[in-house]
Amino acid sequence: MICQQIIRRFEEIEYPIKHMSKTAKLEIDGKSYSLPIIEGTEGECAVDIANLRNESGYITLDDGYGNTGSCQSGITFIDGEKGILRYRGVPIEELAETSTFIETAYLIIYGKLPTHAELRQFSGLLTENENLHEDMKYHFAGFPATAHPMAILSSMINASSCFYPGLMAGRNPARFDIQAARLISQVRTIAAFAHRKSRGLPIIYPKPTYKYTANFLHMMFSDVYQDYELKPEVVKALDLIFLLHADHEQNCSTATVRMVASSQANLFACAAAGVCALWGPLHGGANQAVIEMLQQIHDAGDNGSRFIAAAKDKNSGRRLMGFGHRVYKNYDPRAKIIKRACDQLLNSLHINDPLLDIAKHLEEAALRDPYFLERKLYPNVDFYSGIIMRAIGLPLEMFTVIFAIGRMPGWIANYKETMADPKGRISRPRQIYTGQTLNHYVPIDQRG
Ligand code: ACO
Repeated sequence: MICQQIIRRFEEIEYPIKHMSKTAKLEIDGKSYSLPIIEGTEGECAVDIANLRNESGYITLDDGYGNTGSCQSGITFIDGEKGILRYRGVPIEELAETSTFIETAYLIIYGKLPTHAELRQFSGLLTENENLHEDMKYHFAGFPATAHPMAILSSMINASSCFYPGLMAGRNPARFDIQAARLISQVRTIAAFAHRKSRGLPIIYPKPTYKYTANFLHMMFSDVYQDYELKPEVVKALDLIFLLHADHEQNCSTATVRMVASSQANLFACAAAGVCALWGPLHGGANQAVIEMLQQIHDAGDNGSRFIAAAKDKNSGRRLMGFGHRVYKNYDPRAKIIKRACDQLLNSLHINDPLLDIAKHLEEAALRDPYFLERKLYPNVDFYSGIIMRAIGLPLEMFTVIFAIGRMPGWIANYKETMADPKGRISRPRQIYTGQTLNHYVPIDQRG
């Protein structure tokens, strides 16, 4: 019933790009090409090279897309030099201070802060869709106890689409709200079930009376005979972690979601692909890698100095995990908020974690070190989030899963935006071929 009240289409608030009167000139072999310049709403400019190959035969090459805009988007704004992050224009600091993950999810997906009624409807839709199809339990049973929960998460997100074939088939804008709610709500249920399965524990079903984050903690930690005691400061800290991860423009996993969406795959398939991209230690997997690094430093009796020396040595194969960012060349604003929240939570729970002391020492040492200063390497969101998650009692292998739960609204909003683009084309980059030139087939008995 609720879903019927709020069925929407892929309508996006439009923030049209400005075509500037100035153009860029590119000269190749004495011939000049004029390239349009476009400007975003925050004044960032881009050279539009879409027609360059047609006109000149040349493409542009940008390994790792460090200087390539892959889309136009009205969701999240980052100024990496100034350390600014805004969702739909609202500063992350304001949201962290006053909002909740679910309200922020609404903002990110629907482009505006919800009214009371809209928030109630959205929460109601999440609750209506929190239970997995009962047959999904058989899929969980097939995973070995050693399976990483990120593997389970991506498989189960994709598998769950099989249970709603009408809803998931191709482009189905009229049912977008229910797909989005189902994904946000069920990803949390899948994550908790994956954890219980890996520990051989019975599954705990969601409680419709609990709010989103409390419900996740309940499914993770309650026993069949006794409910987990919800501490408000713990619920708040985890909700903040979800909120701070809710979107971050065109990072590796979100760009993956958009890439898959451009082929008009369904939302669940796109989100499953996003989970796989997020898993790597250079991306969302860094929160697990940070704690592993801090633990190694602790076990080795190092105060961090030896590790910093190794991280600066290119031959060591080590990096200071939780440091550096493709976009931020300043302190990641999320890291500042998380560091403060980390201190508050540990104080309130009376936890003295030696890994927090090592992390603080590493940060101080790195921020004095010319290697890190020259390369503008600052703590990122993953540097302190793991210490909060440890204090909450979340197991290490669940850290990247927590990131994935938090990132779901961002992926959904980016999927929605991709689908809403009337000029949308399949994403298909080009390459510069560096392999063999023409090389004829040789029959097997004539090969040397
Ligand atoms: N420790 C030591 N050196 C580093 C680090 C680090 N964490 N990060 C970058 N560098 C060095 C590189 O070796 C390189 O040095 P050089 O110029 O002498 O060759 C220089 O800084 C630039 O690094 P790149 O790898 O080119 O930076 P890029 O933008 O490609 O990578 C990344 C960004 C992947 C985040 C990188 O900083 C890194 O590996 N950090 C550690 C992993 C991490 O924390 N990832 C989480 C990122 S946030 C997120 O995804 C949520």
